[in-house]
Amino acid sequence: MSEILKANPIVETRSQELKSKCDELKNQGIEPFMKVILVGDNPASLSYIKNKKKLCEKVGAKFELIHLDATITEDDLIEVTQNINQDPLVHGCIIQLPLPSHLSHIDVSHLINPQKDIDGFHPENLYCAMVGDFNGLLPCTPQGVLSLCDYYKIDLSGKNVVIIGRSMIVGKPLAILMTNRNATVTLCHSRTQNMKELTKKADIIVTAIGKANFLDSSFLNEKSNQYLIDVGINKYNGKLCGDINFTEVENKVKGVTPVPGGIGPLTVLSLIENLLKAAGRNEAN
Ligand code: GUN
Repeated sequence: MSEILKANPIVETRSQELKSKCDELKNQGIEPFMKVILVGDNPASLSYIKNKKKLCEKVGAKFELIHLDATITEDDLIEVTQNINQDPLVHGCIIQLPLPSHLSHIDVSHLINPQKDIDGFHPENLYCAMVGDFNGLLPCTPQGVLSLCDYYKIDLSGKNVVIIGRSMIVGKPLAILMTNRNATVTLCHSRTQNMKELTKKADIIVTAIGKANFLDSSFLNEKSNQYLIDVGINKYNGKLCGDINFTEVENKVKGVTPVPGGIGPLTVLSLIENLLKAAGRNEAN
């Protein structure tokens, strides 16, 4: 039987700790405050934002959604971000992705002040991730994957990790964080040849490509000793699912994350951790 690596126990424990930290900050006169910028009405984005608001308020921090019309111009969007960057009462801000197609050329990683960049997208924060400087704000989904590994005692040191997907928000930064944990990382993508030869040799496989049911048992070895971490969030026949064909692999691995209830909630947890880190740092300045 495989272990189902659920987020719930981690979120429950950590959110209590974050609530205490938030209370401490409030006692010092700092109310951690996060703003989310949403352009348009992408239904998936609205659902993710709901989860972010829920956890933010559960730990006692303040949340505000800046909901902008889908037709907003690039200049107007930049002005909104600049106002937030200059607002001393706001500690963290994200621009929810994806942006509508007429704005999709914008590299949002530079728009938010790195001190408030709780997504961990800004080059300054990515550099901190690269050198292992924990003063930076770490990228949320990669940090969520590490939280999962730590909680379920999945040792990374010396292990072969195959990451499928080379995005700037998951695959590439995760490869860096796992390398810092002394894993031997192979980053696969659409041009990778003989991917199954690589995944069969992996101790841990992380999928982050956004293709429902992409990974099945033909990617696995026969020893049932691998861990699978599914970062994908897809819709298949109207149902939410990851990149892994969960029911097909479930009993052929040591552990596997479910979708929903796996990495998604841990990404939100990392975001709120970054918010409190940013708010606490403000206090020190
Ligand atoms: N859209 C999907 N995932 C994310 C994320 O982690 N951050 C932001 N800002 N938008 C997203």
